[in-house]
Amino acid sequence: MMDANDVRPVGVFDSGVGGLSVLRCMREELPNEDFLYVADSGYAPYGDKLAEYIEKRAFTITQFLIKEGAKAIVVACNTATAVAIAKLRSAFDIPIIGMEPGVKPAIAATQCKVVGIMATTETLKSEKFRLLVNRFCNDCTIVTQACPGLVEQVERFDLEGKKTCELLKRYVGELLEKGVDIIVLGCTHYPFLSGIIQKIAGNGVKVIDTGVAVAREVRRRLEAAGILDDRLKVGMERFWTSGDLNNVQIIIRQLWKGDAIVRPLPQGQMIVN
Ligand code: DGL
Repeated sequence: MMDANDVRPVGVFDSGVGGLSVLRCMREELPNEDFLYVADSGYAPYGDKLAEYIEKRAFTITQFLIKEGAKAIVVACNTATAVAIAKLRSAFDIPIIGMEPGVKPAIAATQCKVVGIMATTETLKSEKFRLLVNRFCNDCTIVTQACPGLVEQVERFDLEGKKTCELLKRYVGELLEKGVDIIVLGCTHYPFLSGIIQKIAGNGVKVIDTGVAVAREVRRRLEAAGILDDRLKVGMERFWTSGDLNNVQIIIRQLWKGDAIVRPLPQGQMIVN
């Protein structure tokens, strides 16, 4: 076990800007930590790519973050977690924390025993998701809804335009027709759409996001490994992207609500072969 007060940063990545919904929860939970964030927007969306492609991106970015000094990695992407986290954990000897759709809290909260999950196609078809549902669903019905196109809308910072609203009406409508009283946001891009999702779903439906729970888990894991940064200072963030630099910087600044400086991911990290 290492000493507490470990000043090294925590590395975080997502297929794009969605992981900022997790980063903001971690910033609240861990005000002293420094974070490195990679928005892999040049390769987004992951959710309709082959597993090998996503694994390669996850490996490349994890290696980059470790090279930049990361003491732990947060895979702030449900899709990359579902596809690649087991292999990342066996390849890298630092804490690696991932996302998973909040099936367990949803089952605990449902009154009518019908729960809806919005996620990417790749997350929903993963073995990890199947096991999660089998483990926690009890006597409840789990209705899954793949949501192609939504990640792209958030990547464009189109959070309430016509196309975004049409997609959401369709996807949320499908779940409402099946009688759900809980909707789980199983993709880290979707919390940026939660206001509209809630509006479409109505007050009788609870919308669940796992960002806060994951931030607490990150704290627990850092504490357990003795690598928490408990210096009395305000932590900082550094951002990189594989996408269009100006564009992503503008979007990160809007979503992060801060003066983020975004740097290009170095060329060596831009290849999928
Ligand atoms: N934010 C990612 C997730 O949580 C989106 C994946 C994608 O790019 O399709 O699944």
